[in-house]
Amino acid sequence: MIQQNEKISFLLNDEIIELDLGSNHKFAPTTTVLEWLRSNYDYLGVKEGCAEGDCGACTVVIVEEIDGKLTYKSVTSCILFLPYLHGKQLLTIEHLSKNINGEYELHPVQEILAKYNGSQCGYCTPGIVMSLFSFFKNKETEEDIKYSLSGNLCRCTGYESIKEAAIEIGELKFVDEFACKEEQIIVKLKHLKKKIKAFSCDNYIQPLTLEEALSIKQEQPELLIIGGASDIALLKTKKHQELPAILDLSNVKELKTIIKHDSYWEIGAAVTMEQLRKEMTSDWPDFKNILEVFGSQQIRNVATIGGNVGSASPIGDLLPLLMTHQAEIIIQNKHEARPEDLEEFILAYRKTSLMSDEMITKFIIPKDNDWIFWSEKVSKRKQLDISTVSAAFALRLTKEKKVGAIILAYGGMAAMPVHATMAEEYLLGKEMEEPHFEKAAQLITEEFQPITDARASKEGRALLAANLLRKFYFESI
Ligand SMILES: Cc1cc2nc3c(=O)[nH]c(=O)nc-3n(C[C@H](O)[C@H](O)[C@H](O)COP(=O)(O)OP(=O)(O)OC[C@H]3O[C@@H](n4cnc5c(N)ncnc54)[C@H](O)[C@@H]3O)c2cc1C
Ligand code: FES
Ligand code: FES
Repeated sequence: MIQQNEKISFLLNDEIIELDLGSNHKFAPTTTVLEWLRSNYDYLGVKEGCAEGDCGACTVVIVEEIDGKLTYKSVTSCILFLPYLHGKQLLTIEHLSKNINGEYELHPVQEILAKYNGSQCGYCTPGIVMSLFSFFKNKETEEDIKYSLSGNLCRCTGYESIKEAAIEIGELKFVDEFACKEEQIIVKLKHLKKKIKAFSCDNYIQPLTLEEALSIKQEQPELLIIGGASDIALLKTKKHQELPAILDLSNVKELKTIIKHDSYWEIGAAVTMEQLRKEMTSDWPDFKNILEVFGSQQIRNVATIGGNVGSASPIGDLLPLLMTHQAEIIIQNKHEARPEDLEEFILAYRKTSLMSDEMITKFIIPKDNDWIFWSEKVSKRKQLDISTVSAAFALRLTKEKKVGAIILAYGGMAAMPVHATMAEEYLLGKEMEEPHFEKAAQLITEEFQPITDARASKEGRALLAANLLRKFYFESI
């Protein structure tokens, strides 16, 4: 049992904020960072557009001290609960410019955006500036511009001028005020992290260690687990539902690490999609392919792998990939850990085999060089869109160049991610020849009964699924 501590502590720029989120206070733990900022006249720069993480108008930057360095993360404050800030620094558009005797001195990122006429009505601008600010602070390259801005919609300026500004920002060699204060902020954040206790009140607990998390789940199995809350927060902000009491794993350090062994990787359940995107380099092209078009950078900065699998969504983008890599999910309660295959874990539409005292703690992904891995996500928009159909395939050839083993996993074709079993069985032992893959593609259209929805008709989905196999064949021979 952890002690009741109803206060979160964080830096708002360089000021230490202690915010009481107990039941007698104005803000509940599920108040979003956006709601909290906009309740204060000094922080009205942050805007609400969609309240579901889709437009980026509400983008702020969260700074974390990791191994003595600061990392800057753009996030959508409209779907971020306040305890996420515990032990971190929050920066908003208001912190970028300086007010000197009533005259505003803009941050270079703001100046450059203005120079390129990157703003018209201005509604999206604070969000765009904060995304570009994190791009500038993380010293990212021109290649990263599309990732940094993928979560920011602008309905009037047009992206060309914003992109031109971003290119100049990427070339900027400027020591800004934040760089001058870096040592001081590192010291403050280290001190804060040492001092803070797990946040805990009647309906929200955020433990700091795995041991605490497992004990709490044992004592209060009814608690709803969250990782980054990028799924769960929408129940509040869009569906206006009352949330059950929450167990928030976003501050459990053991769950946030990636351990790279030669033959497999261990990935903690609270590892974010952006962490994965940055770590999974050319050795994991199929993961990279999908992670680059997963949500937006703001979403990837909070969304976790545990949450993607835990939601058991038929269009969860990592699920087909984990199926092809034959990843193991490690599920733990207070007393033991058990491995489970993804296919046994997901039982039906958004239903898993998780017991009420359990949580996902990590994933074991074998690093197997004998297989060819391939993936593709088809969606209406390239960035920040949900899959219409996604596919992840794995192929192992025999010495005679025949199909020795094949896994064809699809998202968006059924109520949960599925194998194209008929095509898999048909292809086994066949030569790598077009007629065989053509026949397998036809079997795929017969096997699945996808739904028609706003994204595609059932016939369209079936054709997409078959064409993805055809594409895989032509790219693999
Ligand atoms: C704008 C936007 C864009 C998105 N784009 C994509 C996309 O492109 N592709 C995609 O797949 N998804 C997308 N999503 C959905 C979501 O971001 C992902 O599914 C994400 O990985 C969820 O992770 P989370 O940590 O935020 O989950 P949470 O919301 O915290 O949790 C989701 C579910 O998982 C459970 N859970 C979380 N952690 C654990 C754990 N350790 N053990 C057991 N259960 C757990 C929770 O109880 C809950 O049921 C998007 C969401 C938004 C808002
Ligand atoms: S208000 Fe649209 S992403 Fe937050
Ligand atoms: S400037 Fe109007 S929405 Fe971007």
